[in-house]
Amino acid sequence: MVSTVQILAVAGVVLLIPQLYRFINFIWLYFLRPSTVHEYLHHPPTYALITGASDGIGKAVARELYDKGFNLILHGRNEEKMRKVADEIRARGAHDVRYFLADASAPSHDFARMVEPYKDLNITLVFHNVGSSDFTKERIDEQNESYVLGIAQRNAIFPLLLTRALLPKLRLSARNGPVLVAFVGSQAGDISPPRFSVYAASKSFLIALTRGLDNDERVWGAPTGIRFEYLAVGQVQSNSLRVQASLSSPTSERFAKAVVAHLGCGWRRYAPWMPHAVMQWAMEFLGEKAVDMFTAQAIGQMLEEREKKD
Ligand SMILES: NC(=O)c1ccc[n+]([C@@H]2O[C@H](COP(=O)([O-])OP(=O)(O)OC[C@H]3O[C@@H](n4cnc5c(N)ncnc54)[C@H](OP(=O)(O)O)[C@@H]3O)[C@@H](O)[C@H]2O)c1
Ligand SMILES: *[C@@H]1O[C@H](CO)[C@@H](O)[C@H](O)[C@H]1NC(C)=O
Ligand SMILES: *[C@@H]1O[C@H](CO)[C@@H](O)[C@H](O)[C@H]1NC(C)=O
Repeated sequence: MVSTVQILAVAGVVLLIPQLYRFINFIWLYFLRPSTVHEYLHHPPTYALITGASDGIGKAVARELYDKGFNLILHGRNEEKMRKVADEIRARGAHDVRYFLADASAPSHDFARMVEPYKDLNITLVFHNVGSSDFTKERIDEQNESYVLGIAQRNAIFPLLLTRALLPKLRLSARNGPVLVAFVGSQAGDISPPRFSVYAASKSFLIALTRGLDNDERVWGAPTGIRFEYLAVGQVQSNSLRVQASLSSPTSERFAKAVVAHLGCGWRRYAPWMPHAVMQWAMEFLGEKAVDMFTAQAIGQMLEEREKKD
């Protein structure tokens, strides 16, 4: 006869297997796996395209990729600031640095024209970094429509349509070796804090987009060689988030090193910064109710601090 204790023991082991698998993956991803970013440096001169590259995470990732041997196509919105950053990066080496300007919050762009100057370049990495959300007390019906749309434009629609314009070109580059398109997401996309619903929804859009596009290029017909990934990002010290740097909130520079070390790791959705992955796990463990209450409190505190500063 099988005893209840035996059944429970078997059930316990079966339930633990996924956790164990997750733990082994965790150790591999953050402590053992060597960087493979050089695999995108096939058929030089190879270019990486980075949006929102004039500050914060985008600028730091651009610098890091440049040091790894990539030529760069940067995107920003402020000519003077962008030119300064491009000059600063060029001074680090001998690779090519180009840039283009576009307000990602604006409702319409001619994306074909935007990418036309780069049609003869081998682009093997696209880092969709542009995006942001303001801290505001207002609910969506207390903000005007163009403001609300602007949040979705810069976080979701701009990366979508830029990817669409680049795809034919990326497929050509992918004939010679791997090509990667990475979307910078946010933990907000998983937990939708109060007053961040449109931002969170836009990042969530990128989660579905990543999986869908990856399936488009990989499992429908012959694989084209383009892969997609979504980066789950927690707090990072940057121009728009001026927090004290800590283990859970690294500087953009430290964070960029972790990003470049993990690009192309094979996971479609992951946190490049290890402590963010731990936080993600803790939030799943706590459950939605507790997380919602906790984030409401945290957002309230952050809003208060902001108001004190202003
Ligand atoms: N920092 C965090 O804690 C955190 C957490 C989760 C996710 N993220 C995500 O990480 C990405 C980068 O954020 P960050 O913290 O590095 O921000 P940041 O320091 O403010 O830098 C944002 C970059 O994007 C550009 N940009 C912003 N709005 C734009 C627009 N409408 N049109 C064109 N360019 C625009 C900025 O240009 P200017 O230099 O002209 O301002 C800058 O180059 C975003 O997608 C954000 O959602 C950040
Ligand atoms: C891109 O790669 C192809 C294939 O190797 C090569 O023939 C071509 O010259 C490269 N393009 C440029 C602009 O370097
Ligand atoms: C909408 O609101 C934003 C932010 O509050 C403001 O900067 C902008 O001028 C407003 N636009 C219109 C059309 O009212």
